[in-house]
Parts: sequence; C-alpha cells; structure tokens
Amino acid sequence: MTTSSNKHTPLHLTLRQTLQQRARNQTLRTLTLPTPNSIDFSSNDFLSLSTNPLYRARYLRHLQALPATHPLASGGSRLLDGNSQYTEQLEHFLAAFHHSPAALLFNSGFDANWGVLSTLPQPDDLVLYDEAIHASAHEGMRRSRTSRLLAFRHSCPAALEAVLRRQVELDPRVRNGERNVFVVVESVYSMDGDVAPLQAFVEVVERWLPAGNGYWIVDEAHATGVVGPRGVGVVQELGLEGRMFVRVHTFGKALGGHGAVVLCDPDTREYLINYARSLIYTTALGFPFLAAIRTVYEMLEGGETVELQDTLHHRIRYLRERLTAIQPADPTLFALHHHPGSPIFSLRCPLPRRLAAACQAKGYVVRPILPPTVPAGQERVRVCLHAGNTEEEIDGLVEVISEWLAEMQEVQPVAKVARL
Ligand SMILES: Cc1ncc(COP(=O)(O)O)c(C=O)c1O
Repeated sequence: MTTSSNKHTPLHLTLRQTLQQRARNQTLRTLTLPTPNSIDFSSNDFLSLSTNPLYRARYLRHLQALPATHPLASGGSRLLDGNSQYTEQLEHFLAAFHHSPAALLFNSGFDANWGVLSTLPQPDDLVLYDEAIHASAHEGMRRSRTSRLLAFRHSCPAALEAVLRRQVELDPRVRNGERNVFVVVESVYSMDGDVAPLQAFVEVVERWLPAGNGYWIVDEAHATGVVGPRGVGVVQELGLEGRMFVRVHTFGKALGGHGAVVLCDPDTREYLINYARSLIYTTALGFPFLAAIRTVYEMLEGGETVELQDTLHHRIRYLRERLTAIQPADPTLFALHHHPGSPIFSLRCPLPRRLAAACQAKGYVVRPILPPTVPAGQERVRVCLHAGNTEEEIDGLVEVISEWLAEMQEVQPVAKVARL
C-alpha cells in the first residue's frame, strides 16, 4: 500500500517534476507567513476592519449575547441541520440593505460564483463573460450545463455589443427572446482595480435583447464596503439593482470577515438551494462567522464605516498623486495603472519580483502578480491601500519605489533583457 511517507512513487515523481517545471518558469507558488511589524499594502482588508477596535468590540458583544444553549457550529449543510433563524434573519437584513428581493449566504465568494454559474444557465443558454473575470467564475462555467460560453474584451461595451450583435444576427432564438443570455462581469476588478462600465453595458444588452432575455450576473467582491454610499457597491450606486439578475457580495475583503451572499429573486434562491452543490454539500457557516457578517452590516447600515471609507478615499488620492509624480518617462520600465477611487494600484513593470522584494526588505508588504494570474506581459506589483495606512507609510513606500526605479534606470538595458 502507498503511504504519504513513500515519496518515490511514480505519482510523487510526477508531482515533483511538475513543481520543478513551475520553479524553472518562476511561477512556483509558495505560502508565506506575515512578517511581524510589516506594513500592509497587500491585503484586501481595505477598510482595515479586521483590526478595527469598534468592530471587534461589537462583534464580541454579539458573541456574548448568544444564549448558552445556542450552538456555535452550524452542525451541517443548510439543507440538513445547518440552518437557523439567525441565518435567515441575516439574509433578510442583507437583502434589505442591498435592495434585493432575496438573499442566500454561501461559505465564500468562490462557492457563490461556482454555485451560480454551474447551475443557473440552462443547457441551451448562452453565457457572455468579460475575459478578466475571476477564477471562481471560470470554475463555475467549466461545470456549466451549457457549452455556449463566449468571452468579450475586458470592460469594453463595444466588444460586448459586437459579440451580442453577432449572436442576435445568427440565432433567431436569441433574437426572439427564447434563448437566455447571461452576461457575467465584476463591478471592480481585483487585479487592476478598474470599475466596469455597467451603465453602458446594460444599455447594450437592453438595445440588443429588447425581449428581456438578458440576465446580468455581477460580482461585487472588490466593491463591497468600499464603493457607493455606505459601501453598497457599484450596482446600487448607479441605481441598477432592478436590472440585475444576480449580484454576489463577498465579506472576506473590505468587510473583514468570511463568506458571501447571492442577491437574487426568491425563485432563483430556491433553485440554488436545490441545485448549487457548493451550498448543498458543505457545512454551513457557524455562528461566529454569521455574527461577524451581522456586525459589519450593522456598522455599514448605521453609517459607522463612512469615516473609514472617507479616509480610504483620501489616502487613495494621496498615493495616486505620489506615484504619478515618480512615473519615469519610459513606461516599459514602470507604468502606474490606477482608476480613480479604487484602493487597488497596479504597478506594471518587467521585474515585479524584484520591486516587491525591494519594498518587502523595507517592511512594506506588496505582492508581485505573475502569469497565469495575469496575462503574460502584464506582470505587476499590486498595491492595496487601507483606511489604516497613514500618509507617512505611503511616503515611505513611494520612496522605496522611487529609489528602486532610479537604480533600474541605470541598468535598464539589462532589466529589459532579464525580464522577471
Ligand atoms: C472578484 C472576486 N470574486 C470572488 C472571489 C472569491 O471570494 P472569496 O475569497 O470569498 O472566496 C474573489 C477572491 O479573490 C475575487 O477577487
């Protein structure tokens, strides 16, 4: 019998060789531990809520208010023993906050996207998706009941229009409204921090699908808590919630928690409860997770995160100004990609590992992002800002980047050849 201590089986050799190949390609992924006293310019904790004393105190009060007999763990799948009144009340609360007829909790954004995309499009349906959508949406589409899946150029209404128009012209069922057409986008993209042109997108779909067979699925993971009044997200900021079929908000980023909610109509909710395997075959969130979600949404609703949001947006403007000022004339060496209002900054450069290492050596945590997470040629250092980052910290980070750039400019020809 093979045991895990037997490292010389053909399988282990295959695994090792594959990893070695990744290492040679410089794409090997490794786990790292946080460095004590380092300054976070990397996590998705945009509002710095996970270390916020008010959030912590309120959360602990929620936990302490729990009757001694109330179980801490959910004890099973939502469909078996894992449901509770607390869970259902929380879903009502989230639905009301987000102006949605219904809400369904999932254990993560990954599970939510996977569940939605693997189950809702039916065998004959068509799915159009932005080429830059998250891996979880791709995984859901891989398990979709339809194989009619078409990508369109990232955040480009003209590209969506071209794909849709072709389908309308070629396929009478799309034209006459018999075939459902799902359009899948994110509202704020995780790698470049850009906001999708949702209003223009919606107009395209309504122009080409006047029979109403267009169904929007919008992932608001990176907008939740950050964009819109009280952090409601991009869709609600634009007043488009009535036009959406499904919205996914996640709690693991700006909301300092874990899990996700699918906002949809009651029929869709019931369908997901019946068919979404990422909901059915997993233990539901236990009370500590639900209480964290409840706590943060009470804070959002009560306007208690507005000051954090304002501080974050102030810091975003500050970092943007500072990075723009140090941008070299040669954009192949370093180019800032940033969209006003977004806490995510993409520093495109051919040597992201080295730039990240230079920052990390001075105690600033930033991450190099490499293919396959981003397309080849779009390597970058991703910088995420937080409400808790001070202007002094931002000055320190910009200084390190500036010094590194000065050094690189001296050795630029080598840098260009050495790539990565
Ligand atoms: C756009 C987007 N959607 C979904 C997810 C998955 O969310 P979660 O981390 O809650 O699984 C992520 C996480 O990286 C994301 O960036």
